[in-house]
Amino acid sequence: MNLTHRPRRLRQDRVRGLVSETSLEPSDLIAPVFVDATTDERVPIESMPGHERVPIDGIVDRVEAVLETGVEAIMLFGIPESKDPEGSRAWAEDGVIQEALRRVTSETDAYVITDVCLCEYTDHGHCGPLEEELRTDGSIVEADGPACEPTLTVDNDATLEALERIVVSHARAGADMVAPSGMMDGMVGVVRSALDEAGFERVPIMSYAAKYESAFYGPFRDAADGAPSFGNRRHYQMDPANSREAMREVRLDAEQGADVMMVKPALPYLDIVSAIRREFDHPVAAYNVSGEYAMLQAAAEKGWLDLEDAALESLLSIKRAGADLILTYFAEDVAEGLTGGR
Ligand code: PBG
Repeated sequence: MNLTHRPRRLRQDRVRGLVSETSLEPSDLIAPVFVDATTDERVPIESMPGHERVPIDGIVDRVEAVLETGVEAIMLFGIPESKDPEGSRAWAEDGVIQEALRRVTSETDAYVITDVCLCEYTDHGHCGPLEEELRTDGSIVEADGPACEPTLTVDNDATLEALERIVVSHARAGADMVAPSGMMDGMVGVVRSALDEAGFERVPIMSYAAKYESAFYGPFRDAADGAPSFGNRRHYQMDPANSREAMREVRLDAEQGADVMMVKPALPYLDIVSAIRREFDHPVAAYNVSGEYAMLQAAAEKGWLDLEDAALESLLSIKRAGADLILTYFAEDVAEGLTGGR
């Protein structure tokens, strides 16, 4: 049989590697790590098998374990010892992230990125201090129900002031990069000028540029104790229906000086990853979130799929879509698989 086109020629074992279009390296991965000021012991996170909240005293060991796998960067999340309406422990000199940062940066070689948000620090669990929601004519929006109480929403501009304090406190404690994640208007610009004014012009910003209001954050909210106590985040995080809006968000962040553009979640939003890759020349990061991790873990636990293969394929697909960097709870396991000669 004379077939001109036989694509299978290039799928033979000895040539597959040569024509492979995408590669995944441990250095592409960022491992999220949870540090908890309320405990002296490691606490397993039930909805994220294999992950734990570690006490401040255990953070250096935890980060060393990440580095041993070949992963070079971590994203640090903190659970503070106490919460209040403003989230003031987020910028405390002796706050959980600040303490952890000083130890990790002085005792390890990890590249440390900090998540900059207030939802783990406010007692109501929203990503900033609250204000009454107003209609365009200035009248107060009342919540449903007989009490006629005002509806509350996050105060954008008050949150920006808090973010300025947080990033400067993180940079002082040694953060290598900061990642504002609250989806507040103007957040990248204020973070950039706050860092510059404090002398941290070399600290880059990874913006959670296109962060969607997603059901896939569920397990994380258990892990970091950051679920909103009422309502949801749809007044600040993006509507999953929108993709042109993501380009607008990224453009604004680019104008305000973001160095790296992140999309979150990853797998349900690969169209957004690839659109940003095409339209912008910034490095693109994708956050393979807690729900994406928990789904595969749960299916594997039932024996319904092979965890290692499914995780590797997921991360490879995120890179193929155009991501340069991937934040993932699979970072350590996949990196070990990669360096183990898979
Ligand atoms: C903080 C933040 C969240 C995540 C990362 N940073 C929670 C949220 O927006 O509710 C989610 C990460 C994950 O699900 O893995 N704003």
